[in-house]
Amino acid sequence: MKKVIYCFSGTGNSLRTAKIIAKQIGETTIVSVREGATSDLAADADVIGFVCPVYEWDMPEPMKRFVERLSIHADAYVFMVATYVLIHGRCFESMDSILKKKGTRLHYGKPLRCVGSQCVAYEPFPTPRLMVERSDREAKKIGKEIASKKHRSYPRMAFLTRRLYNRMMMPFKQVQYDYDQGFYVSDRCKGCGLCQRLCPCKDITLSDGHPVWNHNCIGCNACVVYCPSKAIMFKTPEAYRILGETGNLTTRAVIRRLGLPENRTRYHNPYISDKDLCVPNETQKDSKAGFDAV
Ligand SMILES: Cc1cc2nc3c(=O)[nH]c(=O)nc-3n(C[C@H](O)[C@H](O)[C@H](O)COP(=O)(O)O)c2cc1C
Ligand code: SF4
Ligand code: SF4
Repeated sequence: MKKVIYCFSGTGNSLRTAKIIAKQIGETTIVSVREGATSDLAADADVIGFVCPVYEWDMPEPMKRFVERLSIHADAYVFMVATYVLIHGRCFESMDSILKKKGTRLHYGKPLRCVGSQCVAYEPFPTPRLMVERSDREAKKIGKEIASKKHRSYPRMAFLTRRLYNRMMMPFKQVQYDYDQGFYVSDRCKGCGLCQRLCPCKDITLSDGHPVWNHNCIGCNACVVYCPSKAIMFKTPEAYRILGETGNLTTRAVIRRLGLPENRTRYHNPYISDKDLCVPNETQKDSKAGFDAV
């Protein structure tokens, strides 16, 4: 039986989850969804999974674009696990509507609470010391359900979130591609190029050995949290600053929080290294590595 999991992950929670599920369901190929990732496996796979974070109450755009291009075996069992911290929003509905156009549906959908990792806006929470192991245990349970091909209807966007979506999320979506203009490097940057290799959106180029951001950032934070020198800094970009002056109350409140103080914890999942994440355009086979705590 052929099984494939497509995983998008910035700070490792979703990749960790995908690996735990892969271990439960047996020999599975995990494909990292990044620019140029291979997409042919789903055409004849019997089990197809999608694991990704929730971004702005929805699926990350690169995951959406990737699934839209995918050919999916009509009889496959299809599941989705979305890692998130507080509000999963409409991510399952978005996925299901893409699948519906391809003649299939989501057979199993479950949100998995993990450490919130948007370090340019807040300290990671709930505390990783407790949350990481809790998420792992929950992922293992999810993996067992998926292994038995359980059907589970996914949670829909809550009434209040649906009402607030346009007011709270759309202003940010409009300036999304200006976000990376807030990044700059301190003199700690050693020019190692890891940030460029890690970026799933190929947003980073190097100039004189230092990163330059090119307006294709989805805000996954991989470059920020895996930089070995903690050299990547962030200041509110101009487009956001203007939005902060002209936007509604909630937009202004969020923008006021943006920033990356020196003492901010740059959380990434402790079981996922930059090498795990940084697999360009190829597949990873499930391995026993990193499962000690599961
Ligand atoms: C750009 C961005 C947007 C996010 N938006 C949401 C959100 O709308 N709701 C939520 O509950 N968590 C949100 N989070 C938290 C992530 O969904 C959560 O930390 C996730 O586990 C990260 O997965 P990863 O480690 O695989 O990248 C967001 C994080 C980032 C970086
Ligand atoms: S990963 Fe960090 S040290 Fe390496 S090039 Fe990027 S910013 Fe510089
Ligand atoms: S530039 Fe950094 S934060 Fe933006 S998508 Fe690339 S790795 Fe993620």
